[in-house]
Amino acid sequence: MKKVRVGLIFGGKSAEHAVSLNSAAAIYQHLDKERYEPFLIYINRAGEWCLTDHTHFKEEEYKKEKFRSFLPWSTEWAGTLDADIYFPILHGPNGEDGRIQGLFELAGKPFVGAGSFSSQLAMDKVVAKMLFAQAGLKQAPFLYFTENNHEYIGELVDKKLSFPVFIKPCSLGSSVGIRKAMDKKGLLAAADIAFGYDNKIIIEKAIDMRELEISVMGNDKIMLSSPGELMPSHEFYDYADKYLDGNTQFRIPVSLDDEVEALVKKTAQKAYRTLFLNGFARVDLFLVKKSNEVLINEVNTIPGFTTISMFPKLWQLQGITFGQLLDRLIEYGFDYSAQRKENVDEGLGD
Ligand SMILES: Nc1ncnc2c1ncn2[C@@H]1O[C@H](COP(=O)(O)OP(=O)(O)O)[C@@H](O)[C@H]1O
Ligand SMILES: [Mg+2]
Repeated sequence: MKKVRVGLIFGGKSAEHAVSLNSAAAIYQHLDKERYEPFLIYINRAGEWCLTDHTHFKEEEYKKEKFRSFLPWSTEWAGTLDADIYFPILHGPNGEDGRIQGLFELAGKPFVGAGSFSSQLAMDKVVAKMLFAQAGLKQAPFLYFTENNHEYIGELVDKKLSFPVFIKPCSLGSSVGIRKAMDKKGLLAAADIAFGYDNKIIIEKAIDMRELEISVMGNDKIMLSSPGELMPSHEFYDYADKYLDGNTQFRIPVSLDDEVEALVKKTAQKAYRTLFLNGFARVDLFLVKKSNEVLINEVNTIPGFTTISMFPKLWQLQGITFGQLLDRLIEYGFDYSAQRKENVDEGLGD
């Protein structure tokens, strides 16, 4: 049988560059080499691409490679980047946000994970929250702003939310630019920070909650794992806790009342459908401590994918190994591509 040529794309112009290297290393290691012929496309922090044979997955080492523009009309690439299917394992902006997915769609090439439109919906916290509200999903009360007008922000937050609040750039990830504010002064300082990263920010009421995550995958038919829980070592799951000096504890899986677990699954499934997702995602939720209500927080379309990451670990508990998970995701990618309707004319031409 002819092997499937898989173009693994990793690194990327994002704060999660280093995580992507680790995710890619794990995926490369677990791809069944009898079935697949993986090849590596590394993107550096400047957004330049290189084709590499090196499987060390170390940023320092990749710096020695020759980088080029990825533009399809750059003839230097001729033939070399061609894959049967692409596997972008890029977290955050410029990877998880639909841009690269749009490139594959434009080229008519199969790829693993959510399509470009759904990826964009999931990445924009404001749009995702509006859709979740429309779908009747519960979430933290929020406001959004497209202008850093202190007077207006202060007034509206006073009127509509109560402190403490969370202030976030709209489309980032990794908790970059996110602050918790206890009062108006903190709020306005945090707004300045968030506007430094994005021209749209979201402000949410802080919820006293437990943080749950659940893995979902599939196209028309979807599968859900059992939920896991994370317990940040900082005041919230901030950038430092995620990547620098954090000591986050995980419960994989977490034992919850049957009713709560059923609600978590129902909420996650609805969130996945609401964003018209395909492929796979990790859905993050809040379990409100006082009321046991389940709130949707966000959907990550390319979650951390290292051997110790929540997403693959939750599947392992369902009896799906890392390698089998990759087989499924690749199959979903081919199926999704086969189902995509091309925009053709009505057949009246000839
Ligand atoms: N409304 C909220 N109430 C309490 N904690 C929150 C709230 N929003 C975010 N957090 C905390 O901040 C972290 C990062 O926020 P999140 O919206 O998940 O951003 P990112 O996309 O960067 O991961 C969450 O994991 C959680 O610990
Ligand atoms: Mg998050």
